Formats: sequence, structure tokens, C-alpha cells
Amino acid sequence: MALTLTHTDPDAAREISADIQRLKRERNAVILAHNYQYGELQDIADYVGDSLGLSQVAARTKADVIVFCGVHFMAETAAILSPGKTVLIPDRNAGFSLADTITAEQLRAWKAEHPGAIVVSYVNTSAAVKAESDYCCTSGNAERVIRAIPTDKEILFLPDMFLGSYLRQKTGRPMHIWSGECHVHAAIKPAMVEQMRADHLGAEFMIHPECGCVSSTMHYLAKGRISAEGTHILSTEGMIKHAQQSDASQFVVATEIGVLHRMRKANPDKEFLPIDESISCRYMKMITLEKLLYSLQEMQYVVTVSPAVADRARGAIERMIAL
Ligand code: 13P
Repeated sequence: MALTLTHTDPDAAREISADIQRLKRERNAVILAHNYQYGELQDIADYVGDSLGLSQVAARTKADVIVFCGVHFMAETAAILSPGKTVLIPDRNAGFSLADTITAEQLRAWKAEHPGAIVVSYVNTSAAVKAESDYCCTSGNAERVIRAIPTDKEILFLPDMFLGSYLRQKTGRPMHIWSGECHVHAAIKPAMVEQMRADHLGAEFMIHPECGCVSSTMHYLAKGRISAEGTHILSTEGMIKHAQQSDASQFVVATEIGVLHRMRKANPDKEFLPIDESISCRYMKMITLEKLLYSLQEMQYVVTVSPAVADRARGAIERMIAL
């Protein structure tokens, strides 16, 4: 359990949490936390979820202030969807390596090479890149978005190459894929999965589609070398749901270790093993209880998106939410 908690001592954590709750009410704020956040932050949040769920909550909240415990692109998405609200991120350095792999300028150049192509951007991109896109998608709905595009249209998918190649195999749709990767998921290699499979024969495997092992997993599934019943490629929220519904007693989880917190809490009689304890995102882990408290005290750090960019980016996100 310790893996997914900060080192804050429990009494201090309780005290800070009480101050956060009081300030949250005073400010009419809502706290959103991604599934990769430290356990204490997930426990204090009003809503914990994956990128898709968080963007849906951000779009419909009645709160005046949204405090986003996650990485910068997620807070930006909330700012785009709720232009009248104050969106805060407790640490402004909580960036994201994947989102940095493509700029709006690079995307414009890529589009110029493929006139008429439909641009599908993973939500893990900057607002400026979303503004250049036709659709956004998350790992939870990417397949649905791709299937909704008329078959005579060329597709540019960005920026994650592992998710892109997974979608290409799953849907059979040819598409051009940007060669970006999330450094945390890319580190989950086929050999790691093979080793865990050999060590935990009865376990079910839940694998995030951004993982470096995803193409080989798809290949083994297609060849029947691994069982389809025991292997699931899922978004973080999909994993949490699956863990609850499955009758299995042991699960190997191939994504950022923060996701284990909710799984273990909701299923105390089941065992959840990280694919490797090192699979931790330093950007996600920049947010702590102390920083969340400071954020509410000082109303820092405000995340804004210029109205011109936000208006264009909103179209791509709303088309995704509508699906
Ligand atoms: P989810 O869409 O499953 O929440 O994944 C988000 C993410 O950022 C993965 O790196």
C-alpha cells in the first residue's frame, strides 16, 4: 500500500486534509484527481477518474473553482471546458512528456502533407495542439472515435505511437501515427510482462494501451499464445471497473502505480501487483497534500487558455464527449 502513498505522517495528513476540506467549502471548489495521484489525494478528491471521466466532470461542475490534481494538459482541458471558472493546478511544473512530443507548428506541417485528413489527438496534448485537431480521444474512448470516422477519410493520429498502433490493429483502419511516447508507459517492455506471466500463472493482466508492450501483447493474443480471457487492454478507469467485476483473485497491473490505490481499497480480498514498482510518473507525483492546501489558500496556480485557442480546442473535445 505504501507504494501509492506520500511519506506524510498520518496525523499530519489528517490535519492538512481537514484544512483542505474547510477551504474547499469556503471557495466553493471541487477537487478532481487522476487515478495516478498519491492515495491521500485520491481520498480527499470529490472525483477520481481517468482522463475521460475527469473532463466530463469538469464540463458539468457547478463549483466556482476546479483544483486539478493531475498533470498540466488535464487542467488545461478543464479550463477549456469551463471558461467561466478558475482552474488551479497545485504544482505548475507538473508537465507531461507525451504532450511535449508535438507542437501546434509541427502538427500544422503534418496536416499540410495530408490535406483533408482527419486529425485525432489523444487528450494528452497541449491546448494549442487540440485547437488544430478534429477530434480528441482518451484511452477510454479512442476506439469509438476512430470507428466514428468515415472509412474513406485518411486519419492522422497523435501523439502516442503505442496507442496508435493498438488502434490500428484493433480497428483495422490504416492511419498515420506520430512517433511520440509516454516515457513511463514506454518503459513497460514485453520482457517485463513475460517475466510476470511466468511468475504469476493464474493472474489476470490489465495493460494500458500506452504501454511499450502493447503491440507484442496484441500479437500474442492474435496468435493464441496468451489467453484473451486473462489479458485486458484498458484505460485506468476500465481497469478499476474490471478489477471489481472479475472473479480472479490476482491481477498484474501494467500502468502507473497510483492506480493500485483505488483497486486495493475497493477489493481488499483481491491481490494487485504492479508490473514493476518503478513505474511511477514523477510529474503526477509532484502534487502533494501540502501543495493542494497551498493551492486553495493562495488560489495558485491558475491555468488559463487564451479564448481564441480554447474556442477551437473545445470543438475537438466536445466532439469526443458527444460520442
Ligand atoms: P487514462 O486515460 O487511462 O486516464 O490515461 C491517462 C494517461 O495520461 C496515461 O498516461
